[in-house]
Amino acid sequence: MKTLIISENDDNGLKKAAATLREGGLVAFPTETVYGLGANALMPDAAKKIYAAKGRPSDNPLIVHLSCVQDVEKVCYACDTYYRLAESFIPGPLTVIMPKRDIIPFEVTGGLDTVGIRIPSNITANKLIRYAKVPIAAPSSNLSGKPSTTKASHVVADLYGKIDVIIDGGESEIGLESTIVTIEGKNDLRLLRPGGITPEQLKERGFNVKIDKAVLEKLSDFERPAAPGMKYRHYAPCAQVTLFDGDEEIVKRKLQEYKSVDSAVILCYYEDEELSRLPNSYVIGSKTDDLDTAHRLFSVLRDIDEDDKIKNVYAALPCAKGIGLAIFNRLIKAAGYRVIKL
Ligand code: TXA
Ligand code: MG
Repeated sequence: MKTLIISENDDNGLKKAAATLREGGLVAFPTETVYGLGANALMPDAAKKIYAAKGRPSDNPLIVHLSCVQDVEKVCYACDTYYRLAESFIPGPLTVIMPKRDIIPFEVTGGLDTVGIRIPSNITANKLIRYAKVPIAAPSSNLSGKPSTTKASHVVADLYGKIDVIIDGGESEIGLESTIVTIEGKNDLRLLRPGGITPEQLKERGFNVKIDKAVLEKLSDFERPAAPGMKYRHYAPCAQVTLFDGDEEIVKRKLQEYKSVDSAVILCYYEDEELSRLPNSYVIGSKTDDLDTAHRLFSVLRDIDEDDKIKNVYAALPCAKGIGLAIFNRLIKAAGYRVIKL
């Protein structure tokens, strides 16, 4: 298949891409979190094409993207709590799971009776959905299991030749996927995936937030995660990622042991000068700016993938506060939960 690459500034191109979506094609587009791989959420066959292009297990549901809150009731049964969340956080990096209406096929929801709804704030994403005039099912536009895509070049690397259009909108602002919640009571939320909206922000608005176990640790083979996607190895570069947990200085000394190992790289922060000046270290951001780390993480993991000789990646286990919870979650999953206590 020939994949067309267009700029987000090409309004005519966006209109054509929207028509491609409406007619059942696949279009990768920028959002404020990561790039998404969109398909018409009302067409079962279009959803199936997403699973095929990504190599995604068919029981892992897709998020449905809309352009405005007014459309939410058309695809699911929303409650007051949703609208209160929407006042503070929507449009934006928040996905809310709600009971689906019949119009959304089970092919989109992986057989579930619920659907995840997200309204992106990114102007291009929002415009594309408006032009398409249909809800858009969209997972992150990476091959299944690989780090999510935060630049058009990442999408080209994973999906060129497999999809109809890639819309280039530069770098994703946040760089990690949306926060996913389910509503368990009037003010009670369960966090299924941490992301751009932090539990602290939700609590500030009066919501109680329970963190689902799958966010923090590996579930046993008998436990079923509330978000089916949380059970798969994810965000992983080809190399094995190992995380060290312990006193900051001890962890730093441990990481330095890998400084002359050719097949190993170390992830560190700008402030870790002893580490950041090593030839085999990658800076993932600043210790005082989690937003910067969130923004760079997937891109760094993808850069590491480009070097075949790298077999191991070593890093400190990050602090799970604020947006750091999302960074923690993505790194433990990238590591396949390989965390060594020092
Ligand atoms: O930021 C994002 O959310 C990006 C952009 C493109 O919007 N999308 C994204 O989609 O990250 P995806 O498919 O990579 O991750 C969706 C996650 C999966 O873990 C899936 O299992 C979960 O959401 N999910 C979707 N629908 C669900 C549902 N009805 N119930 C529980 N979990 C659901
Ligand atoms: Mg994904």
